[in-house]
Amino acid sequence: MTESMNVSYDTQIPNNVGLSSDRRVLKALERWHPHYLDWWRSMGPVGFQSAPVYLRTAVGVDPKGWAKFGFVRMPEYRWGILLAPAEEGRTIGFGEHLGEPVWQEVPGEYRAMLRRLIVIQGDTEPASVEQQRFLGATAPSLYDMRNAFQVNVEEGRHLWAMVYLLHKYFGRDGREEAEELLRRRSGDADSPRMLGAFNEETPDWLSFFMFTFFTDRDGKMQLESLAQSGFDPLSRTCRFMLTEEAHHMFVGQSGVGRVIARTCEAMRAAGIDDPQDVERVRALGVIDLPTIQKKANLHFSVSLDLFGSEVSTNAANYFNAGLKGRYRETRIDDDHLLLDASYPVLELVDGAVRSVDEPALTAINMRLRDDYVKECARGVERWNKIIADAGVQFRLALPHVAFNRKIGQFAAVEATPAGDLVDAATWAARRDRFLPSADDGEHIASLMRPVTERGAYASWIAPPQSGIDNKPGDFEYVRIAH
Ligand SMILES: [Fe+2]
Ligand SMILES: [Fe+2]
Repeated sequence: MTESMNVSYDTQIPNNVGLSSDRRVLKALERWHPHYLDWWRSMGPVGFQSAPVYLRTAVGVDPKGWAKFGFVRMPEYRWGILLAPAEEGRTIGFGEHLGEPVWQEVPGEYRAMLRRLIVIQGDTEPASVEQQRFLGATAPSLYDMRNAFQVNVEEGRHLWAMVYLLHKYFGRDGREEAEELLRRRSGDADSPRMLGAFNEETPDWLSFFMFTFFTDRDGKMQLESLAQSGFDPLSRTCRFMLTEEAHHMFVGQSGVGRVIARTCEAMRAAGIDDPQDVERVRALGVIDLPTIQKKANLHFSVSLDLFGSEVSTNAANYFNAGLKGRYRETRIDDDHLLLDASYPVLELVDGAVRSVDEPALTAINMRLRDDYVKECARGVERWNKIIADAGVQFRLALPHVAFNRKIGQFAAVEATPAGDLVDAATWAARRDRFLPSADDGEHIASLMRPVTERGAYASWIAPPQSGIDNKPGDFEYVRIAH
């Protein structure tokens, strides 16, 4: 066991970065901590703050035993600072510093770029907690409530992870950025979060599951590319965050899957063959499949915007500098410089969608997004298998990348989910067939009634296949005072 695998609990902040012998950073973090708790109490989960929740806490970075489970009141969660173990002799894997030893300090010439990358990543973490703060009151089960709170406390820890980097490596402006991360608010008109998808509401549990499937997965892809960074502390931080992120993906994949399973089961039991018979399906107290498709259309398109412009000199600069790589950079078989390489990008050319070969360096965002889309498509196929196995004739599909975009090549045009470009009036007339309508939202909202009996589930969602930490079906994941 290397030294960095031992987590120290001798400061208020569990860590494997030697905080107790780094008085300057420890002091800065201890000053930030009460501000963080103020933020958590005012912007974190509404209610349930004094309820013991069966949560996992990261207690180490050994892949075989990094977490322990136990009942914790959320404000008492041990938000720690954990970096994956250093890789002996690691070198920069791409860009103009290819093959040089990784940096343990911030290179002066890249200071501003690096700080920006860390702040943008950091801003998303508390944002999602803010977006999800009302979910507890309508949880479909204690199991689901616990999972949402687990995601929330871990997003909180991810904020800690980025704030540590700011305090440790960026001096006074790092401290200022750390305060700003607690000041911005999701959806606030004057002081919004930095990225669009993180200012949207998460009004119901289907939105939450879609968010964790689509938007958390963007987060995962960003972490994957930052895990490649030549700035080693950032790489190690992100590598450990990815360990936790796997559960967030699971919550989304299985959550939507359970909604679908329940809908199909109810349809079969009622003898309804036509998934488009929305009124009859809804009367069963479940969410019809066309509405689930529309929710997916919304969350997928909003999440695509998080990848930024398809062709981007910023992305090229980050790559050249060795700060942000491609997905699984080290496993890609090319020169990792990309000076002469090209990459196909879907663009709007003379009013039509065409594939254009762009310099690979400027198409880094596009490539990451393509990797993301492939993963999303695999997840959607798992949902389709649930539908097919239930004998229901319906297929979910990802909408075209030109659909409902606010950033990049297709921001200025309107496209259908099939990818047909249409004029604004046509799109507006058909909007409610593509995206959730007010009526769809009302139906979903009508189902959002809390179920807090042990082992019970709301009408619109199937129970999970197994419990968290192998707990039995009637386990009391959240101890609510009744
Ligand atoms: Fe996160
Ligand atoms: Fe996450």
